[in-house]
Amino acid sequence: MPRKRVAVLISGRGSNMTALIAAAKAADYPAEIAIVISNRPDAAGLKHAGSAGIATATVDHTAFNEDREAFERALHGELQSHQVDIVCLAGFMRLLTPWFVQQWAGRMLNIHPALLPSFKGLHTHEAALRAGVKIHGATVHFVIPEMDSGPIVAQVAVPVLDTDTPDTLASRVLMAEHRLYPLALRLVAEDRTRIVDGRCHIVGAATAEEALLVPEG
Ligand code: GRF
Repeated sequence: MPRKRVAVLISGRGSNMTALIAAAKAADYPAEIAIVISNRPDAAGLKHAGSAGIATATVDHTAFNEDREAFERALHGELQSHQVDIVCLAGFMRLLTPWFVQQWAGRMLNIHPALLPSFKGLHTHEAALRAGVKIHGATVHFVIPEMDSGPIVAQVAVPVLDTDTPDTLASRVLMAEHRLYPLALRLVAEDRTRIVDGRCHIVGAATAEEALLVPEG
């Protein structure tokens, strides 16, 4: 099967992007990172992608004078011109319209730093600590128009420690995200996901463990 062509959309640091680039270096990985696109010209991730030899593009949303649709048409044009099969949102800080989401329905993933449907939106680590949960984590899901919703492809659990601050918890969750996103993208790129009644089933998963990463060590 030819490797799927993936676009990673970022707005900042791009550490999940870096994890996807690293995973895609393996000869048996079913996807290649065809392009990294940022909506911010100063996103640090763009430099990292460039030095890893990945094509990069900037579609600066501020150049479109609040015209969200024009911004998205430009973004869509970049994706098409690079013959992208799958879009991975990785810290991409723009809400997408139903039109754009529809163009990529079933082919666009997002990573969220919480066990959805808990703690949607920003500041998830603060919210988890405030709620007193013992297990936190991260989720990769298909993107639908509603924010931080959509069929869940895979999740990773991260224990919350009594000593955690939002920063310490965030950094452990981030390390787990870097293992989760390559796994989830693999499942999608291998065409092993099926949406059944709004749930994402994994075809050929020997055990449920394949879609639930447990903490290392
Ligand atoms: C990650 O925590 C991701 O889950 C969230 O935004 C953050 C992006 O970090 N959507 P990075 O840019 O991948 O380092």
